[in-house]
Formats: sequence, C-alpha cells, structure tokens
Amino acid sequence: MVAAPLSIAELIQQAQARLWQSESARLDAELLLGKVLGKSRSYLLTWPERGVNAAQQQQFEQFISAREQGQPVAYLLGEREFWSLPLAVDNSTLIPRPDTEHLVEAALALDLPECAQVIDLGCGSGAIALALKSERPQWQVLALERDARAVALAQRNAQRLQLDVTVIQSDWFSALTLQPQFHAVVSNPPYIDAADPHLQQGDVRFEPRSALVAAQQGLADLAQLISQAPHYLRSGGWLLLEHGWQQGQAVRALFQQRGYTQVSSQRDYAKLERITLGQWVGE
Ligand SMILES: C[S@@+](CC[C@H](N)C(=O)[O-])C[C@H]1O[C@@H](n2cnc3c(N)ncnc32)[C@H](O)[C@@H]1O
Repeated sequence: MVAAPLSIAELIQQAQARLWQSESARLDAELLLGKVLGKSRSYLLTWPERGVNAAQQQQFEQFISAREQGQPVAYLLGEREFWSLPLAVDNSTLIPRPDTEHLVEAALALDLPECAQVIDLGCGSGAIALALKSERPQWQVLALERDARAVALAQRNAQRLQLDVTVIQSDWFSALTLQPQFHAVVSNPPYIDAADPHLQQGDVRFEPRSALVAAQQGLADLAQLISQAPHYLRSGGWLLLEHGWQQGQAVRALFQQRGYTQVSSQRDYAKLERITLGQWVGE
C-alpha cells in the first residue's frame, strides 16, 4: 500500500510535535523541510497544502530523526548565518554564535590604519575574519586554525563569499615569523572548563571538544594568547579576546600582568562580560 502524500503543513506539524525537546521546534522543522524542498520558509507558509513526494518525505524523516537525537540544525543544514554572511559549517568546528559579533564590533570600533594587518586566531569556519574583511576590504586579514578540516572549511567560505582572507594551518602563532606586524589580534579561543555541565547540553554536545575546552578552568588558551601576542603586535596594537561570562576579572588580570594598557571588558546583549581587550605599547 502506498501512503498518501503528506502536505507541507502536516509534515511540519508532525515534526514539531516530535521535536518537543527543542526550544525552537517549529523553526527547526521549517528550516529542515525548506532545505529538503530547496524552498524558503515563506514558500512553506504560502503553500501549506502542497504535497511532498515520497523521496523528499524520506529525506525529511532522516533530518527529523537526527534532530531528535540532538544534532544541531546548523550541522544538518550545513550553514549558519554570522554577521549576515551565510557560512558553511560542519562538525570540524564551532557553530558561530551571535555573541561573537561583539568581538567583530569591538575590532571595527578600533582606530586602526586604513590598510591594517589583522589576524584571527582559531578561525574555525572563518566567521570573525570574514566578517572583518567584509566590513574593511582594505584590511589585510589573516586567519589561523589548528584543525585541518576547519582550515579547509574557512578557505571554502572565503572563496564562496569572495573575500580575500588567507587561511593557514597553525597551532596558535607557531606558523608565523616572530615579527611585530599586526595592528590587531582577535580570537575566540576555547575557554570552557572540562567539568562545565553545559558541555552535556544542546548543540554543544555535538561540537568538537578541541573548539570548546581549555585547561586551567578554561583559561589556558586565553593565557597563552595574552602571553604570546606581544611578540606579534606592533607598538599600539590591540589584542581582543572573547571569553566566558565569569572570566572577565581573571582575563583582565592576565592582560595587566603581561603589561598591556587600556585593559577593559565589554558586555554582550545579556549584559555579561564577554570580551576583553588591551593595547600593547611595548615592554
Ligand atoms: C571557540 S572556537 C571559535 C571558532 C570561530 N573563531 C568562531 O568564533 O566561530 C575555537 C577554535 O580554535 C581552534 N583552536 C583550538 N586550539 C587551537 C590552537 N592551539 N591553535 C589554533 N587553533 C586552535 C579550534 O579548532 C576552533 O576552531
């Protein structure tokens, strides 16, 4: 017996019920059905009674089962928007977060030369580097990343978006010559403590630990970047780091101990300390 084709509205309704554990069940269902049909959400809303063929229903079923298991929607879609840029994403790296747009805003607010040299460390999908390049086409933006698959992903995003950002595989600064060449160093490094219970919840469960977790209560990579950046910053150059909302005080102390000036933290949309920056003027 051949099952009757279900309509767009019926499929979304059924999927929404199955995805009750997701805070965005209906949106998830709409985005995933849109991906299967190659249509926008507004198409789904305009034509709710249209039938969906068996092959498409089967593909949608696979997506919904994966989402029921907790797979992030961004990984299933293979895409996430950041700074209005459609970025390809995969499980080699973090799904870019809206919070990180604060780091981009803070870097753009700096008084840098027109052709500034800027580096993004641990670039993942390339989110920060590509956002900066899209806003400041004259800047020379370099992006470094340790994971080979994430390097390929960031390179693909740069090509797709036709943004001239060079992406290089590197363990933090190791691929660079020891030279004070940058006007700004930006990074959203791993900063979560390995014992943090949030690692067992939501999308984070499916993201690589190497993109999330750092030793010393999450401070090890932040400390390393704060310590090493002065070797690569021009006098007057800035280091900008994203960190956990409870790490502001510890991160400011690390900046001050290393000798940065104008050290300050900035808050995110939820009014939590999310980024810290400092200027390097020399020893
Ligand atoms: C929190 S994710 C941020 C990714 C991206 N910048 C973003 O904001 O969406 C941290 C990134 O740093 C990379 N990473 C971790 N340790 C690194 C290291 N030692 N050297 C270079 N990259 C590293 C991870 O692979 C991951 O892509």
